Amino acid sequence: MKIHIDLKKTEDNSYDIIIGSRILNRIPEILKKENPADNYIIITDSNIKEIYGKDLLNNIKNNNLQTTLISFEAGEQSKNINTVKEILSEMLKNNFDRDSLILALGGGVVGDIAGFVASVYKRGIRYIQIPTSLIAQVDSSIGGKTGINTRYGKNLLGTFYQPEKVIIDTSTLKTLPKQEFINGLSEVIKHALIKDKDFFNFLEKNINTILSLNNGALEHIIKRSCEIKKEIIEKDEKEKHCRKMLNLGHTIGHSLESASSYKLPHGSAVSIGLLAEAKISGELGLLKQAEIKQIKSLLETCRLPTTIPEFINLKLIIKNTSYDKKAVKGEPYYVLLEKIGKAKIGVKVPDKIISKVMEELK
Ligand code: GLY
Repeated sequence: MKIHIDLKKTEDNSYDIIIGSRILNRIPEILKKENPADNYIIITDSNIKEIYGKDLLNNIKNNNLQTTLISFEAGEQSKNINTVKEILSEMLKNNFDRDSLILALGGGVVGDIAGFVASVYKRGIRYIQIPTSLIAQVDSSIGGKTGINTRYGKNLLGTFYQPEKVIIDTSTLKTLPKQEFINGLSEVIKHALIKDKDFFNFLEKNINTILSLNNGALEHIIKRSCEIKKEIIEKDEKEKHCRKMLNLGHTIGHSLESASSYKLPHGSAVSIGLLAEAKISGELGLLKQAEIKQIKSLLETCRLPTTIPEFINLKLIIKNTSYDKKAVKGEPYYVLLEKIGKAKIGVKVPDKIISKVMEELK
């Protein structure tokens, strides 16, 4: 006997990204009109709670919407299963029902944890991303990847779970520590490298304007990054094929982060990873030396790191690549570059080439 369960369906996970300056104040009005819910739960970290969280909480409450704030210690070290358990316990204790909506207010760590919590709480509740760091505004808040780190590596537990909306207030970048802003630029450069040579040229020409936080320049780099990411995830939501290219710089980058016990910030690790993977592309004859030089020069002009800090063990980096999510039977597959603006996915690279490039980046 056989009973067939037919689950073929078309899901509509579409949503809008709203980008503007000083739009945090408009959130209660947006929620009332477009995202009604029984309860709103702001999930944030200890830093953002003080800068924007408490104000947002009061602002939403003043509009007669039921709202709670849950925060955790800021930092990548918090991105683990214990933080998730604590948040979920708090939500269960309050008996929030399934018509509750999470507002993920903060940087990449907050977005990844809050999205993960939303995807498992009572088998899934709605959430909105409100990214306040550059890395989150140009990358992690878009595309529905949620996750936490384990001692085996970065983001190894997680879900694909799309938010209901992304609200990007560019003015929050003015309160972001300068180094964090710079770290976010590595994801912007990544987008240019995989898809858009003109955008790469724009970054080369306008880097000082961007570093001075000029509003027009900020809106442009955020909008262009979101457009590039949108184009890719619309074709491949669950990273079965072309979405993999968004991991350029991340196979080495994640291994560096993990080998540094997360002391090296994500954006810095990605910067070194981008140069490492550009050099690997060069070693395999895919990318011209002149373009590798151009990439190194842009990373340096942004004041992003391009060498591996001394305290990181090179052997551990290579070992860690076998835990990469894209690895098959422990063998990592790299995203490499054929030229600036064109990525190639699924490339196997001999260990001796990785070792050579790691030595060069010491
Ligand atoms: N950050 C890579 C991705 O969202 O696929």
